[in-house]
Amino acid sequence: MSKDTFYITTPIYYVNDYPHIGHAYTTVAADVLARYYRLRGKEVYFLTGTDEHGQKIEKTAQKNGETPIGLADRVVQRFETLWKDLLITHDDFIRTTQPRHENGAVHFFQACFDKGDIYEGEYEGWYAVNDEEFLTETTVKEMGEEALSKNPNIIRLKEKTYYFKLSKYQNQLLEHIESNPSFIEPTSRRNEVISFIKQGLKDLSVSRTSFDWGIELPVDSNHVMYVWMDALSNYITALGYPEKTALFEKFWPAQIHLVGKDILRFHTIYWPAFLMSAGVELPQTIYAHGWWTVEGEKMSKSKGNFVDPFEFVKNYGADSFRYFLLREFPFGQDGNFSKEQFIRRLNTDLANELGNLVSRSLSMVEKYTQAKVPAFDLDKAKEFLTPLHTNFFQYQEKIEALKFDQAFSHLWDVIKHANQYIEHQQPWVLAKKEDQSQLHQVLYHVLELIRMVSVAIAPLMPTLSDQIRSKLSLDKILCVKGADALSDALQIGILKAGADTHKGESLFQRIES
Ligand code: MSP
Repeated sequence: MSKDTFYITTPIYYVNDYPHIGHAYTTVAADVLARYYRLRGKEVYFLTGTDEHGQKIEKTAQKNGETPIGLADRVVQRFETLWKDLLITHDDFIRTTQPRHENGAVHFFQACFDKGDIYEGEYEGWYAVNDEEFLTETTVKEMGEEALSKNPNIIRLKEKTYYFKLSKYQNQLLEHIESNPSFIEPTSRRNEVISFIKQGLKDLSVSRTSFDWGIELPVDSNHVMYVWMDALSNYITALGYPEKTALFEKFWPAQIHLVGKDILRFHTIYWPAFLMSAGVELPQTIYAHGWWTVEGEKMSKSKGNFVDPFEFVKNYGADSFRYFLLREFPFGQDGNFSKEQFIRRLNTDLANELGNLVSRSLSMVEKYTQAKVPAFDLDKAKEFLTPLHTNFFQYQEKIEALKFDQAFSHLWDVIKHANQYIEHQQPWVLAKKEDQSQLHQVLYHVLELIRMVSVAIAPLMPTLSDQIRSKLSLDKILCVKGADALSDALQIGILKAGADTHKGESLFQRIES
């Protein structure tokens, strides 16, 4: 950890579709990082929002018989509700139709224009409306002109356009990527981008004339801005660009832009080239995560296999859904969503391991020490607990490297260890001894571990963290700038002998499939 501020963004989501598991995935991951760094005392700015312009939105609105802004206003509420349901703690939500964004985007375009990097020309070629992307020659060759002409999502364009001199930035970009290994992560993605750039970059069409739903160019009112140039600039317009606001000064450049692998090139080629042209510093890291398939198949409307995050949150709670999303497979890779596997994980990791640890421990404290934290010997507690700090350090290291699955697996090692320790020590046997000191010591060790876990788990499962803490009569965790609550939590002897515990309801019910 270096700088004391942390700026993290999600992609801004298109409003032509309702939110699904893919959108939830990026946003939950960003939320976990935002909460994690707040916990560690950083000042965090977490941005999400919606991408509301472009031909795709205009087309969908037309099909529905509504205005594009009517569509956006309607769908944006779904995103806002979902983020609330999923306990997302973004600091700002930007919509590209807001004046603050439109003004900023216009300035951004103008800055590139003034630099001499935008010129007028004509575009002739293929355009994929769903992806809002001009097809490269290689893609056209691969797919074949005939197939393209039959694809309803792909249109043939011949129109006047303004071009951005992307080719001019090829070497500068390569040099930046090669000398900053963490600019694109994971490494496999970085290599992919490097070889793409090495094939040669062509100038990019950055304006359109054949539809209206976009930001008018400051230099020509017949054109609207290419939706990706408009959308990418959200990461700085949200901070007040072009003004040098306090927010911008404090948080730019961003530490991480989280994106899905499908939008890697836009973020690692177009975006940095635009920024270089406009004279704005580049973000530190662009991290591309993998995609979810559902029951082994690609999610698609026609297959009707969309995983509806609202439904899962309603049925199983936000914490469980968040847990599954990040625990199931490595963040940079693709993975599969299956309901069976979801239930298996909840039953094993949450109900059997974590839930059971908390409930059995508090039952024993209730039974043997009248629901009070028992007396303990601090040196013995240190001897038992200090070696387990390693697991928490590994957890920190992995979470900071966005290896969420491994991070939570380290945390679960602590939970499993605590369960094994109970089995091994058999407090129910110790309870029969006249001298109760060993029983008390064992129970204390377990309670202290549960307390530490309640802090480490907070970024991923905030409600659960609060529930566990209230069972131990502890306050909710307070995140204070400059104070590292996670390191503080590893101190030993925080729970005081005689404090009340509350067994209460169990944290997780096993789900019968
Ligand atoms: N509007 C653009 C992003 C502009 S950012 C300046 C866009 N929007 S999107 O709504 O189509 O997609 C947003 C994100 O959702 C992308 O990062 C994409 O990878 C992610 N996902 C969409 N489907 C997904 C899965 N099935 N699995 C995981 N993530 C997926 O692209």
